[in-house]
Amino acid sequence: MSSKDIGAVSVDELSEAQARAELKRLVSRIRHHDDLYYRQDAPEISDADYDVLRQRNEAIEARFPNLVRADSPSQRIGAAPAEGFGKVRHRVPMLSLANAFNDEDVTQFVERIHRYLGLDASKALAFTAEPKIDGLSISLRYLNGRLTEAATRGDGAEGENVTRNVMTIAQIPHQLKGRNVPGTIDVRGEIYMGHKDFERLNAEQAAAGAKVFANPRNAAAGSLRQLDPAITASRPLRFLAYAWGEASALPADTQSGVYAAFTKWGLPVNPLTKVCKGAEELLIFYHELAEERAKLAYDIDGIVYKVNRLDLQERLGFVSRSPRWAVAHKFPAQQAITVLNDIEIQVGRTGALTPVAKLEPVTVGGVVVSNATLHNEDEINRKDVRIGDTVIVQRAGDVIPQIVGIVASKRPKGAKPYRFTTRCPVCDSHAVRETNEKTGKIDVVRRCTGWLICPAQRVERLKHFVSRNAFDIEGMGEKNIQAFYDDKIIQYPEDIFTLQARDATGKSKLEAREGWGAQSAKKLFSAIEARRNIALDRFIFALGIRHVGETTARMLARFYGTTDDFLAAMQEAGSDKDTEAFKELEAIEGIGEIVAEAVSEFFAEPHNVRVVDSLLKEVTPVSLEAVDVSSAVTGKTVVFTGTLEKLTRNEAKAQAERLGAKVAGSVSKKTYYVIAGADAGSKLKKARELGVAVLDEDAWLKLVGSAR
Ligand code: IVH
Repeated sequence: MSSKDIGAVSVDELSEAQARAELKRLVSRIRHHDDLYYRQDAPEISDADYDVLRQRNEAIEARFPNLVRADSPSQRIGAAPAEGFGKVRHRVPMLSLANAFNDEDVTQFVERIHRYLGLDASKALAFTAEPKIDGLSISLRYLNGRLTEAATRGDGAEGENVTRNVMTIAQIPHQLKGRNVPGTIDVRGEIYMGHKDFERLNAEQAAAGAKVFANPRNAAAGSLRQLDPAITASRPLRFLAYAWGEASALPADTQSGVYAAFTKWGLPVNPLTKVCKGAEELLIFYHELAEERAKLAYDIDGIVYKVNRLDLQERLGFVSRSPRWAVAHKFPAQQAITVLNDIEIQVGRTGALTPVAKLEPVTVGGVVVSNATLHNEDEINRKDVRIGDTVIVQRAGDVIPQIVGIVASKRPKGAKPYRFTTRCPVCDSHAVRETNEKTGKIDVVRRCTGWLICPAQRVERLKHFVSRNAFDIEGMGEKNIQAFYDDKIIQYPEDIFTLQARDATGKSKLEAREGWGAQSAKKLFSAIEARRNIALDRFIFALGIRHVGETTARMLARFYGTTDDFLAAMQEAGSDKDTEAFKELEAIEGIGEIVAEAVSEFFAEPHNVRVVDSLLKEVTPVSLEAVDVSSAVTGKTVVFTGTLEKLTRNEAKAQAERLGAKVAGSVSKKTYYVIAGADAGSKLKKARELGVAVLDEDAWLKLVGSAR
């Protein structure tokens, strides 16, 4: 939904009935966008468009105060906490800021304060001016200097308890240092992600087939609100402190003084913060920073001004849900209108097909733009963007320009809806949209299935192939692989293993290359030789099959035991989902349908099989360490079900695998034992139906000789 179709009638001309109807519509629209932004971290409209909706709502309410609805967005902030985290009631509510959209609004803000305080207009009042960070706000409770609780803003009154996640953020001290730390203080600030970290994370996410975030704010929010703190810990989150809630004492009597104390206590404060006198200095600061904005390492969407003296802040108090003593001066979104000449599909290094808008060059915020992202297939359909359309381009911060919408009235006659390709434009392999493992939804990204043969992906696959947890070839890092690839010395994995032989006969010797010598070439060749025998799980992982990480590779290697058995099964599984082989693959504990599909599809592509076959002429994968062959369950398939009492499910699994058993997640004719704990359900029933032997936990422990 765009904001373009609102405000057709000016607020002054609205009848009461029209106003009532529009307020009702606005409530549901704003709620919809709040939900997308705060809970799903997936906004559909720009912040500027969202602001238009909020302003319209406020303007109508200002004219018809009797129509203000109890559920109006002006009566609340953000969205109620998401389920899954505990709730924390903020002792002092977490408020939001009123906005200023132009210089005039700022002058009025300052004048209003002067009037309210009865101050002489000629006497310039001091304000702090600091970037408005585009992240998510957090409240950190420190008791006697120790971090005890962290909560998101939620609806302002109640947020989510994200203490365990916040504890993993390096920039947030667990213990405040120095003197005069109050007994109780809720430190507030912003958790955010820098541009570089954001791009790196998205590249990793894309490579892993996981969700790619639309912008750093969503990435920060999505990273913080993970039920597993280990995931948060792996994400590069940062923090800046800029406010406080409940405090038993304050270390200073000005905003800037408290910031200085924060710094001493070990809390990061934005170094760009400046004390300015009067509206004029605030505006100079604003325009200076607006120029610098693109060079900052993180996204900001405006400048926040706060009255510096805390006693004056107190006197000014609050109006509705924001302080009278502060305002957020927003940067305008930089937009322009131009013609979409074409849509080009680019193939990323991980196979993602990205539509790029080829534009009639246009200046947006001082930069000439001729390319913009259209994100993905669904975005194009949602906006109904067609080649030849007149489009609105936007630059926000220094992110890639985007197409935010079209000008419908300017559509050329005969423009056809855009049809997204189902083939990779680089290698012509099928391009597919998979089902997301976690959400069960169809991925927004269409991907090339050419894996090892697609030139757009090959070099990335090769880097993965030689990486540490795969073939781990010393001296063959990313830089060298890239250089060998560029010079056409290595194109496919098998080329790595024929390198020495080719080098011996070829003209261009490795030792003659820049940065290489006889010694280093010899070392590389022996590192390669050392990997001709490689553990089967590493071999499987190195293939870079989607959804097959190290753990899954290990499961597959354990389950199938030998390369031959593995390949034979995959060949069969890849031919048809109805085969025993596919069902068996899917039933392996921890594998499931999506991984099974990814693996079997990989082996269903003849070009992948060719690459694997050629590679197998050069290397010999070896079965995982010899298992305890004397065990009673070696080679047998077992299924655990119900609640075990003496072992955790993971322990039981590990134990079975150590003894050479294959652990499956569902019961079939191939199952040898079902080990049933308390409350076992359908799997136990199925075992009985199929006549599979059922053991209880004690019988299992006895069998494996480790009863305890
Ligand atoms: S002050 C009582 N300072 O903007 C005022 N907020 O619209 C507390 N924000 O919820 C907020 N940078 O998430 C303040 N330097 C800054 C900020 C900032 C970003 C965010 C914060 C807040 C929202 C208000």
